[in-house]
Amino acid sequence: MRAYDLIKKKRDNKELTREDIEFLITGFLTNKIPDYQISSFLMAVYFNGMSVNETSALTEHMLNSGRKLDLSDISLPKIDKHSTGGVGDKISLILAPLVASSGITIPMIAGRGLGHTGGTIDKLESIPELRTNLSVENFIKILKNIGFSIISQTDDIAPADKKLYGLRDVTATVESIPLIAASIMSKKLAEGINGLVLDVKCGSGAFMKNIHDAKKLARTMVDVGNSAGVKTAAIITDMSQPLGNTVGNGLEIKECITALKGTMSEDIKENILILGSWMLYLADCVREKKSLLMPSSDRMEKYSEKLLRLIEDGSALKKFSEFIKAQNGDPSVIENPELIASAVKTREIKPGIMGYITKMDAEKVGTASMLLGAGRKKQGEPIDYSAGILLLKKIGDFIDKNEPAAVFYYNNDDKILLKEAADLFLSGIEINDLKPEKKSIIIEVIL
Ligand code: URA
Repeated sequence: MRAYDLIKKKRDNKELTREDIEFLITGFLTNKIPDYQISSFLMAVYFNGMSVNETSALTEHMLNSGRKLDLSDISLPKIDKHSTGGVGDKISLILAPLVASSGITIPMIAGRGLGHTGGTIDKLESIPELRTNLSVENFIKILKNIGFSIISQTDDIAPADKKLYGLRDVTATVESIPLIAASIMSKKLAEGINGLVLDVKCGSGAFMKNIHDAKKLARTMVDVGNSAGVKTAAIITDMSQPLGNTVGNGLEIKECITALKGTMSEDIKENILILGSWMLYLADCVREKKSLLMPSSDRMEKYSEKLLRLIEDGSALKKFSEFIKAQNGDPSVIENPELIASAVKTREIKPGIMGYITKMDAEKVGTASMLLGAGRKKQGEPIDYSAGILLLKKIGDFIDKNEPAAVFYYNNDDKILLKEAADLFLSGIEINDLKPEKKSIIIEVIL
């Protein structure tokens, strides 16, 4: 077999076999196939796509390039949730303690933020002393004791993905649906889970800007997950405006604590209840050894009620406190959120127009927050945990001429950067006389 022939096969839009894909991945990892040939292969995939069989084989070989967690001595259902990423998306940090408090194990290996999107690990690290770089052994111990743990990607999980992503990043081949699907799923399947709920974000703040691509990505990941024996469902949700009222690491953690205490914005509540109900449903399917079918709305309603009870009776908040302590953090942040880093400077951002907010571009808000220091332009850059944006208004809200739409939190006094962030934020806002219709953030469920 020669790499040249396989590149040509993909270039000519012919289907690769499992053996072909194994040859390419193994050759790449062992440096027998040079980067320029793999780059060329990636570009051929970018243009011609991959079949479900090809994507499954790519996922499997990327998964097998590293360690797969063995959680077989945890008898509870092991269900994870993954979001394809967005702006203000703090859902995992509310959902994991909430669902774990219902008796489900959640082994979550999460990522960092890049560009306008945030990452769960960065948000968590804004809690004083909290550690996310735990050994796998410690991760499993916490899972057994508490029911959930969140750690950052380890070097021995799907190393082929790390190497391949590095190459995609410099060859303009990141935005390929089969490559994104295989990258995400190889890491999720390494967690040793029985079920997975995918939150596929769609809109300006997401990877997938339109519903057509979001559906395609959701379908691909669901097929790859189910064919690997993990019960997988995807919910496509709206990311055209930021989720919740905060963007930025420390600010978002404070919002999570408030949510776990029972007060949350409508969009966060809707997101939590749909994803949480699906996690409970998948867990029941695992326990009852049943295959996945679309559940009745009555059944989903009961799961939602159960989740709301676990928030009301304090179980979810208690679980979050136990988790912070187990991962070396200071659980007193729950009672004293001011212990989480707070920026010294604030500025109100006023559009100066009266009317109803009809648009708040998520990507622009995310990029403005990054400019304030809350995010990174390039992988590995340091970030300011205390910087970010508090949104006082969202789509559908009325704003007066002198009212602010948001408050910027920052430490860096660079006036040019601050103006750039404010101009960008304001350029993403539209205000009109007519109140827009209220829309659900749930777009579609893919099974
Ligand atoms: N997230 C990943 O883990 N991989 C991708 O390719 C894109 C988003």
